[in-house]
Amino acid sequence: MKTSEIRALFSVVSRPEVVSLAGGMPAVTALPLDVVGSMIGDLVSGMGAQTLQYGSGQGDPRLRERICDVMALEGITDASPSEVVVTVGSQQALDLVTRVFCDPGDVVLAEGPSYVGALGVFQASEARVRHVPMDGDGLIPEALEQALQDCRANGDRVKFLYTVPNFHNPAGVTLSEPRREAIMAIAERYDLLIVEDNPYGLLGFDHEPMRALRARDSQRVIYLGSFSKTFSPGLRVGWVLAPLAVREKLVLATEAQVLCPPSLTQYAVARYLDTQPWREQIKLFTELYRERRDATLESLDALMPAGTTWTRPDGGFYVWLKLPHGLDAKLMQPRAVNALVAYVPGIGFYADGSGREYMRLSYCYPEPDQIREGVRRLARVIEAELDLHSTFDGVDTGAFRAIGGTGRGTPQVPDVEPLVGPATSDRFEEDRA
Ligand SMILES: Cc1ncc(COP(=O)(O)O)c(C=O)c1O
Repeated sequence: MKTSEIRALFSVVSRPEVVSLAGGMPAVTALPLDVVGSMIGDLVSGMGAQTLQYGSGQGDPRLRERICDVMALEGITDASPSEVVVTVGSQQALDLVTRVFCDPGDVVLAEGPSYVGALGVFQASEARVRHVPMDGDGLIPEALEQALQDCRANGDRVKFLYTVPNFHNPAGVTLSEPRREAIMAIAERYDLLIVEDNPYGLLGFDHEPMRALRARDSQRVIYLGSFSKTFSPGLRVGWVLAPLAVREKLVLATEAQVLCPPSLTQYAVARYLDTQPWREQIKLFTELYRERRDATLESLDALMPAGTTWTRPDGGFYVWLKLPHGLDAKLMQPRAVNALVAYVPGIGFYADGSGREYMRLSYCYPEPDQIREGVRRLARVIEAELDLHSTFDGVDTGAFRAIGGTGRGTPQVPDVEPLVGPATSDRFEEDRA
């Protein structure tokens, strides 16, 4: 197990003078805190015998029913509460699925980059991660097929594809509709299981939620959901929807870990869904995040040195930025913190040590004015780094800028160029060492 890049940053970014574009913390103060407070108080005073007691390992039946209603918003209309297991956030769901399927040495295919918390789980299980490249439309189907063929040729046991199709963490991109179809067809051809991790699907700015992969195949897709981004991460309520045979094993695994998910927070989520205008609250969240996304993109467009590129998310929390001229985001980090701005270096989102020239910027938590100030500080740090680079490399910065291309008004990730090239499993081995 290794320290996550994000956890390592926590102590620094909590200093008030630092603008943190690092953590992916939802804007919970936009919730009606007094209403939520009295709702939880009522649950204890009125239903303490249940809410303060142990519960079922699979989770509260009423909540599991309501979870099925939530998933229907993304086209999953055939889910039964009996196929749902309530978990301590979707993080625990990831851990359970990995424990059930993976033995040491097994291969997990995952987008490159991938959610850092998933990589931590895979590494703890000694599964080997093989990254599959993405571009502005998400995971590239041809690259997935290539990876599967390579694994077959190597005799690798591929246990599943792990994917975050909507408003990807950290890349900010969304898997296009044609690619969803293409990936399902490949999964069918190669008998591949898919783990669809979808905490951001309802947080789109411009369009209705996209149809989940799980809505296309109930047997081949294990779906992970969470209330962390649509309600509250502090309650730690997530879930997994899986075919019954898998669900059975997941319940055994969760009972071994936690006996049962916390009763009080499950009741709180179920009561919230039953009595509060939760869909309006999600709309309010997305309006707030849209405003912060706009502040981020406008500032990046105005201030970033030429050659810097970034994704343009239409939902979720994250922008994925590529530094010019092979600058190293991890090496630059101390200078950024010195300049009172924080981000997460891209290297944390790869299992194989790649991604050094990338960083993740989160716009979910700071106010728009703080974001503008943070991007201004970051742009200065990158400028200074480029100057340093040109001094030591003998590269003429002016000439570099002229050929650097994009910069201001930079379009989305180029259509065909992967966010980063495919990784090889032997590089993963080096990283583990
Ligand atoms: C892609 C992804 N999956 C899972 C999680 C874990 O969320 P939680 O355990 O709070 O549900 C996160 C949190 O940021 C995430 O971004």
